[in-house]
Amino acid sequence: MSREELYIQYHGLFFSKEAHSVNSLKFAQEFSFENDVIAVTYPKSGTVWMAPWLENNRLAMVVDKLKSPRVLVTHFPYHLMPRALSCICLSQAIYVMRNPKDIIVSFYYFHQMTGFWKIREHLTTYLFFCSLQKKMNKTLWFNVLLLVVFGKWTDHVKSWKHNNLGDRIMFITYEEMKEDLPAALRRISSFLGKNLSDETIHTIAEHCSFNAMKDNPMSNFSLVPKTYMDSDKSTFFRKGVVGDWKNHFTPEQLSRFTSTINKEMEGESFSLPWSL
Ligand code: A3P
Repeated sequence: MSREELYIQYHGLFFSKEAHSVNSLKFAQEFSFENDVIAVTYPKSGTVWMAPWLENNRLAMVVDKLKSPRVLVTHFPYHLMPRALSCICLSQAIYVMRNPKDIIVSFYYFHQMTGFWKIREHLTTYLFFCSLQKKMNKTLWFNVLLLVVFGKWTDHVKSWKHNNLGDRIMFITYEEMKEDLPAALRRISSFLGKNLSDETIHTIAEHCSFNAMKDNPMSNFSLVPKTYMDSDKSTFFRKGVVGDWKNHFTPEQLSRFTSTINKEMEGESFSLPWSL
């Protein structure tokens, strides 16, 4: 299958045809925000940990029927977001960042289990791991940061960093949620102006733990056909840990990754719990 058969190009970015149509992307771009909360993630950063996905072609129609306040998720970079998000002062955004090295590893395994990305050689994460053995163009394996769906990770985080939402956006990391989920939940609830009891925080944290979500058929994708996601090849809730990249990156890959990403992030100041 060619790239054209697998992906839609929309506003210069690639989107998987399996999850999106031009209509679902337009729907998301024109979505009418009211008193809503949008959680924003780059793919494989913990999206399913947060809420329903706004621009997915199966969820778009459902999302439209929900009543505000709605809690939604998007992978859109900031410039594709509806203007309503910045104009409607009641809406809020939570941006979740994850170490891009762990994103690459998570993406790689995700590609192994999905039935919709059949030619894995066309996938940049696959190239990242295989290009050296296959003697492909050595520059290609960096393109995981350049070509994957939703654009570069670096562009994504930069676009959201330079938002005009003022205090209506908060930044949190996957790593922070892993470190202390109840504390992260307290920070999120206080940002949303909700005063939750310790008992409620504890209950939410239990339901949102990796093991609980992995065992829950409503979140673990066990109800979708194997042709779509084959859990014999990998599971959606794979490891859920911080730093699995250390088990995958060679020293050479690490040093090339670091120099590429540092160049991309030059002049940006992010306070992150990991070094790029
Ligand atoms: P791994 O592949 O590293 O295990 P997304 O939802 O954006 O596709 O991200 C999927 C990644 O988030 C997977 O990472 C998955 O295990 C992890 N994840 C999802 N829910 C989680 C949770 N409750 N706790 C820890 N990790 C979680």
